[in-house]
Amino acid sequence: MTKAFSEDSLKTESIDAQSFLAGCRKQVDQSLERLVPLETTEPTRIHSAIRWSLLAGGKRFRPSLAIAVGEVFGATADVLMGAACALEMVHTYSLIHDDLPSMDDDDMRRGRPSCHLRFDEATAILAGDALQALAFQTIAEDERLAPAIRLLLISELARAAGTPYGMIAGQAFDLAAESRDISETDLETIHRHKTGALIRAAARTGAIVAGAGEDQLQAITQFGEHLGLLFQITDDLLDVTASAETLGKTPGKDARARKATYPALHGLEATQALARKVHDDACRSLDFITLPTGLLRSIADQVLSRRG
Ligand code: IPE
Ligand code: IPE
Ligand code: MG
Ligand code: MG
Ligand code: MG
Repeated sequence: MTKAFSEDSLKTESIDAQSFLAGCRKQVDQSLERLVPLETTEPTRIHSAIRWSLLAGGKRFRPSLAIAVGEVFGATADVLMGAACALEMVHTYSLIHDDLPSMDDDDMRRGRPSCHLRFDEATAILAGDALQALAFQTIAEDERLAPAIRLLLISELARAAGTPYGMIAGQAFDLAAESRDISETDLETIHRHKTGALIRAAARTGAIVAGAGEDQLQAITQFGEHLGLLFQITDDLLDVTASAETLGKTPGKDARARKATYPALHGLEATQALARKVHDDACRSLDFITLPTGLLRSIADQVLSRRG
């Protein structure tokens, strides 16, 4: 398979992240389709639920970021694809569980009824569990990757998905903060864990697959951390400013559930200013990378200005 972008275009500072992300999205969709069991395979209800949520047209931001970083460091989209899809499986599992009545109790996801509404709560829980297991299986069995790299990636993803460093810790902090006044530091901790950890892992996954050196991996880690925080800040903003049509989920939920968010803590304008600052921090991290990073800067721009 060819690179999602040619070497020449990676050297351009004005690379269009939008078309790169659209290209990745297509390739990731096709690979995910092949990696998950068919609806006709028993137990059919679980497989239908997995496909309902996974193949519903998410942005595929995390896999695309892994591919973008990997390509910057010289890996091909083909070699990166299994690990990229594993990131998306963990992400989609987190969304299915995030929407459950005992969590955020959301009716709409990716423009369609949430998994537990289209199916039932037990099926949604199992579909999420199965997606998480399939993510680790996908990396462990990926013959395009050397066994030592698979091990590094499994550890990376497990830490980012779990607790105390990852998404589960963030989700627990998020639920505990509902209807309570919390400090800005606590809010940043929630966001860095519930969303930042997996995005950081996505960036690192690309660099690990490509065999990037320790210095470069450090810079990419910083980039991923800032980008992950930015992604959740913009998610909070969009909950206030966007429509259900562009979001594919119900807006205004955070205020109604009294969630800890930046707009709730600081208001819209200060949150927009913070988003710009965190975006600039992300771009500055790239100054330490000795390869052309126009694509990654453009992806940061895209996250800052995203509408959905
Ligand atoms: C939504 O993630 C939940 C967060 C962690 C902010 P995305 O905005 O990436 O949702 P999809 O994957 O495109 O549906
Ligand atoms: C997303 O936070 C965190 C995870 C799903 C891990 P939100 O609860 O804000 O995500 P949305 O807004 O429901 O997509
Ligand atoms: Mg949530
Ligand atoms: Mg939610
Ligand atoms: Mg949200």
